[in-house]
Formats: sequence, C-alpha cells, structure tokens
Amino acid sequence: MMSKPHSVWVSRPLFPEVLASLAGYVNVHAETGEGKRTPGQLRDKLADVDGAIIGLGDRIDAEVLAGNRRLRAIANLGVGHNNLDLPALTAARILATNTPDVLTQTTADYAWALMLAAARRVGSAERWLRAGHWHGGMRFDDWLGVDIHGKTLGILGMGRIGQAVARRAVGFDMSVIYHNRSRLPAAIERECGAAWVEKSELLRRADHLVLVLPYSAQSHHAIGAAELAQMKATAVLLNIARGGIVDDAALAEALREGRLAAAGLDVFEGEPALHPALRELENVVLSPHIASASAETRRAMARLAADNLLAALGYGPRAGDPPS
Ligand code: DGY
Repeated sequence: MMSKPHSVWVSRPLFPEVLASLAGYVNVHAETGEGKRTPGQLRDKLADVDGAIIGLGDRIDAEVLAGNRRLRAIANLGVGHNNLDLPALTAARILATNTPDVLTQTTADYAWALMLAAARRVGSAERWLRAGHWHGGMRFDDWLGVDIHGKTLGILGMGRIGQAVARRAVGFDMSVIYHNRSRLPAAIERECGAAWVEKSELLRRADHLVLVLPYSAQSHHAIGAAELAQMKATAVLLNIARGGIVDDAALAEALREGRLAAAGLDVFEGEPALHPALRELENVVLSPHIASASAETRRAMARLAADNLLAALGYGPRAGDPPS
C-alpha cells in the first residue's frame, strides 16, 4: 500500500463511512468525543496536520494558527462560517470551505418546525402532559396558541434558506414579506411570493418572523429591545440563524412581559450556554442548534466537507470513491 503524505484531524465524531472514505486518501485522526476546545487545545490539535474538518463550535483565528507552518485547509461543517477568522486564514494561506446548498431545504423545514411548535405551544403542552397534569376535562379556552395559516410571514435575510422558507408558505396561505440588504430580482420575488419591505415595516407587520441572516458585526443584535418593541404582542419570533443576532436577554424580557407571544430558538448567544431567563419561560421552544440535523442532510454535509478537504489538499476524486 502506498504511504499517505497527508494527515487530517476531524474535530468531532463523523459518519463511519465518511471517515473510511477519507482514510482511503489521507491519515485520519478523528475525535470520538465532542466538546468545546480552548484556543490552546485547537492549536495543539492542528499543529501536525495538513487539514481538518471542524464544527461551528471550533473557532479558528490568529491565536489558534500562530506558529502553524503545516496546515493547508479547513473544512467547516456548516454553511455559516462566523467561527472562522477569514483574514487570519487568508494571511496564513489556508483554504477554508463550508457546506452550502446541501442543507438549505432541511434547515428551511426546521424553521417551520419551530414556527408550528412555538405558535401552537407544542413544547409546553408536551411537558405538561408528561408531568401527569391531564386529569379528565380541560378548559375549552386553555392551551390557546396563535394561527399560522392566513397570517403574514416575515423573513429577515433572504438568501437560499430564507427563500426556501418563503416557498413553503404557499400551503399555509400566508402573505410573505422580507427584508434583505439587497432586494431580490423581481422574478425570484415572484417565485417566492415575497415582497421586499423596510426592516421597520417587517417588524411591525410580521405575525411570524423568521431570522435567516448570517452573523457578522453588522447583524449583531439585529433584534434587540428596540426592534422587539416594534413587533406585535401576538407575534412569534424564530431564530434558526445564529446566536448573537438576537439579544437573548431582551427577548426573554419581552416574552416574560407578554410583549411577544412566543419564540422558537435553535441558536443562542454564547451557546452551548443558555441565557438563564429563557430556560424559565414556557412560551419559548428551545433546541440545540439542530436545524440541519436530518439523517440525509448531516450525511451530505459530512461527505461534502470531506470532499472539500480532499479537493483543497489536491486530490481529484471524491471522498465517496477512494483509490483501490
Ligand atoms: C450552518 O450550517 O451554519 C448551520 O447552522 C448548521 O446547522
């Protein structure tokens, strides 16, 4: 067997078949456990490898890259890449890749899962039932949620995932409005059934507001106390984008005071930590950053990350097709 010139580090457990394909080309050091690593730990892990597959919890910056002369490529498991300091990677001449497209539809599905669950109080009702509180009758005016069908869906951030969220609204007979820095071409707006509005109008009119914008210094706290104050008290807010886009403390306050009906959050400021006030609230549905987590999509993301890494290291064929 030919010796393998490259070594790669995989920062979290990955599908065995993807690791096996990768191992057909390169030496693979794969972690069997997951966890937040300090910059020092990341620096040590990356010191003697040519490439790495990492997750969104691994922050790669100048501190982590300091002194590294070997690393050539980083494959991020996710479309978002705010965990990567791109100027630092560019300065170190390290290629960085992400996994767009393969997760678009699954992530859009999840926006709807959160919307339905938050608007119709699914999490709270399930907790109540499991706790054994349902004895015989129930008040007819109890467990009232808010409707989704026939309402106005607002989308902040109208990239691929935002557009996929919009397309699903047809079956719910909703009006769709969106705000994006740049307006979409008219043909795409028509196809998505969505109309561009100013951000303040989006906040005022949306009954269900889905956040799908990338995280950056500009989008930090795009939804804070001032924005929440403009929303309807009957509105539902859904964040499938990134923690930090919402000021979680201000959101918890608005939910607690009934200034917003409900929220569904898949991402959090400072995750995996949760703002303690969110944990106490019944009108918020919480999930641990799993919008892309369907069996099909997570496999596709892992394969794409492996293919990206191999391509960046100069291997032509795909990871699904190892050399004999
Ligand atoms: C992404 O790809 O950025 C998602 O957050 C992963 O679930």
